[in-house]
Amino acid sequence: MKKIIIILASLLITSLSNPIIAAGDAEAGQAKTATCMGCHGLAGNSTIPNFPKLAGQGETYILKQLQYFKSGERENAMMAGVASMLSDQDMEDIAAYYSIQTISENSAKGSEEMIELGRKIYVGGKMDTQTTACIACHGAKGKGIPTAGFPAVAAQHADYTASQLKAFRQYSINVQTGSEGVERVNAMMNNVAMGLTNEEIDALSQYIAGLH
Ligand code: HEC
Ligand code: HEC
Repeated sequence: MKKIIIILASLLITSLSNPIIAAGDAEAGQAKTATCMGCHGLAGNSTIPNFPKLAGQGETYILKQLQYFKSGERENAMMAGVASMLSDQDMEDIAAYYSIQTISENSAKGSEEMIELGRKIYVGGKMDTQTTACIACHGAKGKGIPTAGFPAVAAQHADYTASQLKAFRQYSINVQTGSEGVERVNAMMNNVAMGLTNEEIDALSQYIAGLH
């Protein structure tokens, strides 16, 4: 009996100290974002379409991406340099800070037909390519599921969203053709993006930009 209690107690301690539970200090994080501001804007609201907004993004997701940039699992020359300078604690603090900011507004731009195409795929997926509806993981309002590490996509710059969907798709193409190149690797998203045309990616990116 005593042994079981000790085992249970140590399991509890292990789960409490589990690093998956992000434990950043947002105030300390803010001070560490001075170098990020040039590209990601004030409080994570970038105004440059190729640089993602970080405001309001899930803490776990931000932390994971910073670790990926540092390890090279996600390739980007600008972010590799930035992330290489950050400690694990820095990343946790920064993730905590950005996750409690409010994302700036955005809107869908393009023809009604285009936005409707984006909406249809977002909420219903695509039968012919067996593409899962985005809503399943990113939610009706594009807020994602922060605890599951599913990122928020709403009000993001459409250019950035499109570039990421193409990077996910390119990885699937590379695997199929045996080509070199890491692009962006995530089994769920590689599968989803594989079934999308450029036209559909543009439509989805605009629809997502208008979500709030
Ligand atoms: C020179 C410009 C630049 C600077 C400085 C910069 N970033 Fe980035 N960041 C980018 C670009 C470009 C991307 C998109 C990379 C891609 O396409 O994969 C990005 C992506 C990210 C992402 C992933 C966002 C997502 O939605 O997946 C995070 C998180 C991030 N940056 C955090 C930071 C932090 C924290 C700092 C400061 C410590 C910082 N960045 C500084 C340019 C920059
Ligand atoms: C089965 C769950 C799932 C489905 C369905 C799904 N996604 Fe995702 N999506 C994810 C996950 C998980 C990530 C984060 C990947 C990572 O950690 O790099 C992601 C990442 C993304 C990103 C990158 C966000 C950023 O800030 O860089 C975009 C854009 C995106 N998804 C759009 C879509 C669209 C559009 C669809 C529908 C066509 C879709 N997703 C369907 C799970 C899903």
